[in-house]
Amino acid sequence: MAADKDRPDTKAVAAGRMSEEHFGAVNTPLYRASTILFPDLATLKSNKQPYTYGRRGTPTSRSLEQAITQLEGGARTVLTPSGLNACALAILSVCGAGDHLLVSDSVYEPTRHFCDTVLKRYGVSTDYYPPTEDIAPLLKPNTRAVFCESPGSLTFEVQDIPAIARAAHAKNVSVLLDNTWATPLLFSAIAHGVDLSIQAATKYIGGHADLNLGYVTANDSHAARLVATHGTMGLAAGADDVWLTLRGLRTLPTRLKRHQETGLLLANWLKARPEVARVLYPALADDPGHILWKRDFKGANGLVGFVLKPVSDKAVAALVDGLKHFGIGYSWGGFESLILPAHIKRSHPFAAAPPADMGPVLRIHAGLEDPSDLIADLEAGFKRLKDAS
Ligand SMILES: Cc1ncc(COP(=O)(O)O)c(C=O)c1O
Repeated sequence: MAADKDRPDTKAVAAGRMSEEHFGAVNTPLYRASTILFPDLATLKSNKQPYTYGRRGTPTSRSLEQAITQLEGGARTVLTPSGLNACALAILSVCGAGDHLLVSDSVYEPTRHFCDTVLKRYGVSTDYYPPTEDIAPLLKPNTRAVFCESPGSLTFEVQDIPAIARAAHAKNVSVLLDNTWATPLLFSAIAHGVDLSIQAATKYIGGHADLNLGYVTANDSHAARLVATHGTMGLAAGADDVWLTLRGLRTLPTRLKRHQETGLLLANWLKARPEVARVLYPALADDPGHILWKRDFKGANGLVGFVLKPVSDKAVAALVDGLKHFGIGYSWGGFESLILPAHIKRSHPFAAAPPADMGPVLRIHAGLEDPSDLIADLEAGFKRLKDAS
């Protein structure tokens, strides 16, 4: 096990290991179990057996929960079958009928859809706030939680989480953060005032584009309600996905460093392209979120957004369709590079570039390939874009 004073990279390697309980195996093996047997009735009645039923946990899920709780610096972690499910669970564990929820306008679109449909049906109203604005004037007497995502999905605005937490906590309002962009390695959500830290482990923690998994880590005051809601809803992540995530976690620090290195390289390269109106990457010194990012974050990742100058759909397709190393796919965080046109859904305007300059927005995920191959691929893509314009 890692000690609380160990540095994050050490915790990612050491936390949650149970080798002595598994014949010395370094990482906890994969347990597939629904039924778990009790030796006698007295043990069953005592409620003291560490594992009682597959949905309530196995050594594999316990290992991952413990490792994450240590990395997050929280009180308890629960695992969910997907990242979206973790976003929904966090909201459901604090909100009930008649409550009001504030959600960042830059939120991952399926989270917005959950709020506008299921949550609405159960009597919780949602307002979307501009991600970099002061939330204090927006809090209503029935506001129960503020949902943040920083940097925001597709548009990468950095939010002032400590300021949001101060304003929210002054009114007894909970702060929820989708921290998938940063993972606990690049942003310590709970130390910055977040009550429920949410992660789509599907992305960087899994890291290999082959699983869906989410988690929520709670601080002390929110742990009981989170654990009870998770258990009552019967949310159990699949054993194979839990094990793969535990395996991915061990190499997360090393992979993230390389994603950041290539991400920054591509961001700077894109900035110098005449076809690009603006690059959306908080680690760039002239990004509007750079000062906050530098203050609060320990690094960046491989996600780079960019706004093209106005150009035809045909020219964008010529760029994207011919790429060799960038797959077209709805994800990120894996070992491979990806590209995606961003469909931005907003309640408030998103002004990334002067309107006359604002063309289509694309998002790249920089994978672990040799960066020179990625740049050569994009260079050829921009030539196709020019030829098709
Ligand atoms: C920021 C963010 N949160 C949550 C999710 C949802 O994760 P999952 O696909 O595992 O439901 C995603 C997926 O793309 C995401 O980008």
